[in-house]
Amino acid sequence: MKELYKIIKIKTIGNLVTKDLSGQLSFFESDKDIPFNIKRIYYITKVQANSKRGYHAHKKLKQLLFCPYGKIELYLEDDCDSQKVLLDDPSIGILLDHTVWREMRWIEDNSVLMVAASDYYDENDYIRDYDDFRKYIGK
Ligand code: TYD
Repeated sequence: MKELYKIIKIKTIGNLVTKDLSGQLSFFESDKDIPFNIKRIYYITKVQANSKRGYHAHKKLKQLLFCPYGKIELYLEDDCDSQKVLLDDPSIGILLDHTVWREMRWIEDNSVLMVAASDYYDENDYIRDYDDFRKYIGK
């Protein structure tokens, strides 16, 4: 069965838990660590807690969502499943590789949502209406 999302463990070096205050470094490489070629990176910053964004799905675009700082809750839905996922670990990425409706809720002020995407920005790839999304996936 198709998975709603896949968890990608982002390679991470160094850790505050080991009492090393110089922090940690995370990285992933196009095509090697994630299953697509990255054409675009974008990030959402300066968001207040309880703000919501998203409310769309993509027809073709593949994306890796990750949160290098703070805490963000995702609501994800496809033709088979729906789930909430908490993004609060810079070493975890959420891969969305098919048509998935997403809503994001900021749990903490100034949490950062970063996205690596498989293609350039194209408004025609968006489905921004929930009923259109349901029709598109045949739900
Ligand atoms: P959108 O993807 O709708 O973000 P969110 O769901 O978080 O609100 O994008 C918000 C606006 O930014 C929208 O007008 C499209 C524009 N935009 C670009 O021009 N280029 C991009 O790469 C992205 C992601 C958005």
